[in-house]
Amino acid sequence: MSAIFIRPIRIDDAADLHQARIQPNVMLYTEGMPALRLEATQQFINSLGVDDHTLVAEVDGKAVGVASLHVHSGKQRHVAHIGIYIHDAYQKQGIGRALLEALLNIADNFLGLIRVELEVYADNTGAISLYESLGFVAEGRKKKARFRNGQYVDILFMARVL
Ligand SMILES: CC(C)(COP(=O)(O)OP(=O)(O)OC[C@H]1O[C@@H](n2cnc3c(N)ncnc32)[C@H](O)[C@@H]1OP(=O)(O)O)[C@@H](O)C(=O)NCCC(=O)NCCS
Repeated sequence: MSAIFIRPIRIDDAADLHQARIQPNVMLYTEGMPALRLEATQQFINSLGVDDHTLVAEVDGKAVGVASLHVHSGKQRHVAHIGIYIHDAYQKQGIGRALLEALLNIADNFLGLIRVELEVYADNTGAISLYESLGFVAEGRKKKARFRNGQYVDILFMARVL
């Protein structure tokens, strides 16, 4: 595969990331709905603030994946949550790991965060094993928390606590 560049997100990444976001496997394991619009991704990028650390993976000039570290406020200032998706055609090639390692570097070495957390569909075994390999531990299970493809599915809470 071509080289992977990890860099900050730009507003002109919206069209590429929209394409990634509507891929079947991404839709299956994220909050995406069938009528997801490009404008939703544009709004996401426009809404990012100083406590949102969002990186994309660029391959051959195209943004093929994105991951965000959203830092909380007040008594949760030491906490952030993560979101991530990679275009179906670029999964299982090390891009997710590269993006997560870059975010954890920000969390550990620039923000001094203690707790990084995320939610993952309980049947998303690939993502769960990636998170576990980076030190995340399952803390709990929210039963029937989502309705997807005609079925209720559970959500796992995972966190990496230093
Ligand atoms: C989950 C996701 C972010 C992982 O990114 P990726 O680029 O595909 O993963 P990587 O290639 O970096 O894989 C890293 C590790 O995860 C594991 N892994 C990833 N996908 C896997 C799969 N489908 N089955 C089993 N293991 C898998 C591998 O063990 C791999 O380990 P290795 O580095 O020792 O080879 C990506 O597949 C994705 O966007 N999926 C759809 C949306 C999604 O699930 N988002 C997360 C919501 S919580």
